[in-house]
Amino acid sequence: AQKIIIDTDPGQDDAVAILLALASPEIEVLGLTCVAGNVPLALTAKNARIICELAGRPDLPVYAGCDRPLKRDLVTAEHVHGKTGLDGIALPDPTMPLAEGHAVDFLIETLRREPAGSVTLCPIGPLTNIATALHRAPEIAGRIRQIVLMGGAYFQVGNITPAAEFNIYVDPEAADIVFRSGIPLVVMPLDVTHKALTTRPRIEAFRALGTRVGEAVASWTDFFERFDMEKYGSEGAPLHDPCTIAWLLRPDLFAGREINVEIELHGQYTAGMTVADWWRVTKRAPNALFIRDVDADGFYALLTERLARL
Ligand code: BDR
Ligand code: CA
Repeated sequence: AQKIIIDTDPGQDDAVAILLALASPEIEVLGLTCVAGNVPLALTAKNARIICELAGRPDLPVYAGCDRPLKRDLVTAEHVHGKTGLDGIALPDPTMPLAEGHAVDFLIETLRREPAGSVTLCPIGPLTNIATALHRAPEIAGRIRQIVLMGGAYFQVGNITPAAEFNIYVDPEAADIVFRSGIPLVVMPLDVTHKALTTRPRIEAFRALGTRVGEAVASWTDFFERFDMEKYGSEGAPLHDPCTIAWLLRPDLFAGREINVEIELHGQYTAGMTVADWWRVTKRAPNALFIRDVDADGFYALLTERLARL
C-alpha cells in the first residue's frame, strides 16, 4: 500500500477525502496532521477526530499542528463550511484523544524513519505545517515520494479573492516554500475541482448507500452545495479535496501538464495567486504536474464505491 500523511483543515470536503483514503486498501494512512484553515486549529483537530471515529478508526493518530500562517493573520472560511467547519449532520464529539506532540514533529520523525521515497504527503489545507517541517528539517525534502495537494487556480481564477484560491491565499509564504522545494508536486487546482461537481444524483447516490457514512457525506455535500450553487451558478458544488486521494488511486481519471507554477507573494490584488505557465511562455523549469481535467463520472463512481465499504 502507498503510505500517506494527510495534512488537513476539515472542512466537509477534507472529510470526504479522509474517508476515501481510509476506505481504500491501496493506501495506508500513517496519520492526520491538522492545520488552521477553514476554521481555527482547535476545530480542525476536533473535526479530524470526529471523522476518524465515523470511519471506525479511533486508532489513527491525529496531530494538531500550526495554529496560524507563517507571516500573516489567519483567514478562515466559516462562510463556506459553517461555524463548526463541519456543518451538516450532527455528529458526536470525539472521544479519542489527540496524539501527543506537534504535527510538524510527527511529519519530520515519520519521514526520517520510513524508507526514503516511500511516503506521500497529501496537503488539503494551507501549507503551513508542510513548509514548517521543510524549513526545520530540509533533509526530509529528498525523502518525500511526492506531494499531492489541493490548491491554486489558473483559468478558473480565485474563490477567496478574484485571483487566489483559499489554501494558497491563507499562507502564500508556506506555499512558496513547497513550490520551490524541488519535491515532485501534483496540484489539484480549482480548474479541476470545478469539474467534479456534486450534482443532485451524485449526492443522492451517497444517501442511497444507507450507511452512517453515506448519510454524513450526503449531508455535508448538501450543506456545501447550498452555498456554492448560489455563488457559482453551477449545477452542484466543486468537491475539492478528494481529488488528491482519487488521483493516487486512479491517475488515469485525470489529465494535466508538467508546468512551472510560481506563488505571488506581494501583489496588491493578487497575493496568493498561483501563476501557472500553462502555455510555457517562460523558460522557468516545470515544478508541478498541474491538473485541469477529470472524468467526473468516473471520479464519483470510485468515491461512492469506496464509501460503501465503510
Ligand atoms: C479549499 O479550501 C477549503 O475551503 C476546502 O476545504 C479546500 O481545501 C478549496 O479552495
Ligand atoms: Ca481543505
